[in-house]
Amino acid sequence: MSKSPETEPLMAIFIGMDQLSPPAKARVSQSDVAVLYDRLAGVYDLWGHLTESKARNRALELADIHPGQQVLEVAVGTGLAFVHIVRRNPEGRNIGIDISGGMLAKAKRRLQKAGLTNYQLSIGSALAIAEPDASFDVLLNNYMFDLLDEPQWTQAITEFRRVLKPDGLLVLANMTQGETPGSGIYERLYRLSPSLMGGCRGVRMSEALEHNGFSVILREYVQQMLFPTEVILASRRRRVFSDQLRSAASDSGTGSLPSSRLFNARMRLPKSICSM
Ligand SMILES: C[S@@+](CC[C@H](N)C(=O)[O-])C[C@H]1O[C@@H](n2cnc3c(N)ncnc32)[C@H](O)[C@@H]1O
Repeated sequence: MSKSPETEPLMAIFIGMDQLSPPAKARVSQSDVAVLYDRLAGVYDLWGHLTESKARNRALELADIHPGQQVLEVAVGTGLAFVHIVRRNPEGRNIGIDISGGMLAKAKRRLQKAGLTNYQLSIGSALAIAEPDASFDVLLNNYMFDLLDEPQWTQAITEFRRVLKPDGLLVLANMTQGETPGSGIYERLYRLSPSLMGGCRGVRMSEALEHNGFSVILREYVQQMLFPTEVILASRRRRVFSDQLRSAASDSGTGSLPSSRLFNARMRLPKSICSM
């Protein structure tokens, strides 16, 4: 296609690399998000499988849920990850919250169909989690910060930090800014019409996590059907541990992966990482 003023926006949508920064502002308010997802509940799984399943699986792998743990999933949606959490944690405590009743109703049906009973699903917001301090070993949260306005990030991260145990782990997956040709298409669709993208735009959460008391252990870029996701594993522990982990990673020559001996000694970390 030859470039002309008429075709340029179209080409930008289909082949543009997304070098856009800083992230776009959230253009769907939280009260509208609940209504939007009540409406999207019926079709969300298709999108979730086609564009997010790879990153969701990676997030679950990093969360490394094992029996007896206290696990919270915030923005549980239709339960695409939660069903695996509950399966892996038959003797522990599994709590899922979401602001959309429609998404939660689908999640409940999924869990019933899977024959699982050891869980609690209820309406609840990341911005004010109705759980005591230091309650959870693992907190999983997928595709929610990409919906929130930046001032709300701090509120949600502060709540995550409050409800996690001191050695608790946080795993996040979010739409991020595309890093390969074509992966900017979703960001551009968002700019045309946020609801087309379910209100999600590309974000990068590492800095906000670090500013609000988490130590980011790793960030991975995962792409599926050109849809760009960042998966982050973070620790509630003091920065010193994270620094040791990073230097262990560079000592081992991986550049990004931690040394299992140090991890095992100082903090509980997912087997998937310890074995790397
Ligand atoms: C894109 S969907 C992702 C659902 C699920 N995490 C997944 O990966 O399949 C976003 C979900 O976040 C929920 N959500 C948005 N803001 C929230 C908040 N402040 N607290 C809890 N859930 C929220 C929406 O209702 C919706 O179910």
